[in-house]
Amino acid sequence: TSSKQQQLIQLHEKAAEVYHHMLVNTAIGEAALDYLHKRGLNDQLIEEFNIGFAPNQRDFLVRVFQNEALDSNIFPESGLFVERENKELVDRFYQRIMFPIRNFQGKTVGFSGRFFATEDFDDQDQPKYLNSPETTLFNKREILFNFDKARSGIRKSGTVYLFEGFMDVLAAYRTGVTNGIASMGTSLTNEQITAISRVAQELVLCYDGDQAGIAATDRAIGHLQESSGIDLSVVSVPENLDPDEYVKKYGQEPFVKLLEHGKETVFSFKMHYRRMNKNMSNEKEQVEYVQELLHDLLNVDSLIEQDRYLTQLSTEFQISRETLQQQLRDLKRQRR
Ligand code: GTP
Ligand code: MN
Ligand code: MN
Ligand code: MN
Ligand code: MN
Repeated sequence: TSSKQQQLIQLHEKAAEVYHHMLVNTAIGEAALDYLHKRGLNDQLIEEFNIGFAPNQRDFLVRVFQNEALDSNIFPESGLFVERENKELVDRFYQRIMFPIRNFQGKTVGFSGRFFATEDFDDQDQPKYLNSPETTLFNKREILFNFDKARSGIRKSGTVYLFEGFMDVLAAYRTGVTNGIASMGTSLTNEQITAISRVAQELVLCYDGDQAGIAATDRAIGHLQESSGIDLSVVSVPENLDPDEYVKKYGQEPFVKLLEHGKETVFSFKMHYRRMNKNMSNEKEQVEYVQELLHDLLNVDSLIEQDRYLTQLSTEFQISRETLQQQLRDLKRQRR
């Protein structure tokens, strides 16, 4: 890394430190700290992830950096500020709970700030999460939340859990599942998939249990099957809950059990997912359903698994196995 990169990292480490200080040691951060405690984040976790609070003040970080006599030439490209029309720099993040985002080497290279509503803060028209912009340091295509901490556990166990949000990664972390990661709310990139496949044999998708999460699971499966040989499975969180909400509602042990025993194969997920979008009492849609699933079956490598699912489809829809197998062979040929 060049000395400029070093300087930019230094800015981020400094910012993380003062945000963290505001959260844990000052009256200004008190309400946010209470909120995090209520959400189940204990002090140890807040320390470990260096979570902070950016106060409702547009020149908070500007002043901190000025006092530290940091080189203001690099402020604009840090992504920590925005430029006003008069060229004045003001803080990008304010009135937000700050999650430092670390690169694979464990250095803080960006932030995600969760809006924290209070009575005296009237502008409620804010995005829930605000992320650092793309910078030379912060490459969203490559970043995976918690990958630096999770990596050794992933190597050891061979397994990585992919969650949708970092509150879910943190919830899992609390339950002892420390090999969880999340992308920055975007769909998986090839860069991220490559990084994951280097250390993991098995990837367990555990996105939110709502409609959006289920649809995102299906898209992630598509990306992962296209560009990695990784062994995939899916855990669907019931009752539309996300993992964090599940831990809150049912407790840590049930969540760990859900991850252990609630794993299903990709094909089994597809059977549920495709059914959700169809009216299965309509004969035409039934046929479409079977055809779509035969396509999905092409991605199932294990012959034993394939055989099981053929039997299942054959039984459920009263189509002979021979017909299904013939169709599958045709699809295979078309694909080549
Ligand atoms: P909580 O409401 O705090 O529990 O957050 P969550 O993790 O449940 O968030 P949600 O399921 O709404 O979204 C999952 C992920 O999508 C988040 O972790 C973010 O990375 C991203 N995301 C959500 N809302 C926004 C937003 O308004 N802007 C951006 N840029 N990303 C978002
Ligand atoms: Mn501390
Ligand atoms: Mn969601
Ligand atoms: Mn969620
Ligand atoms: Mn949530």
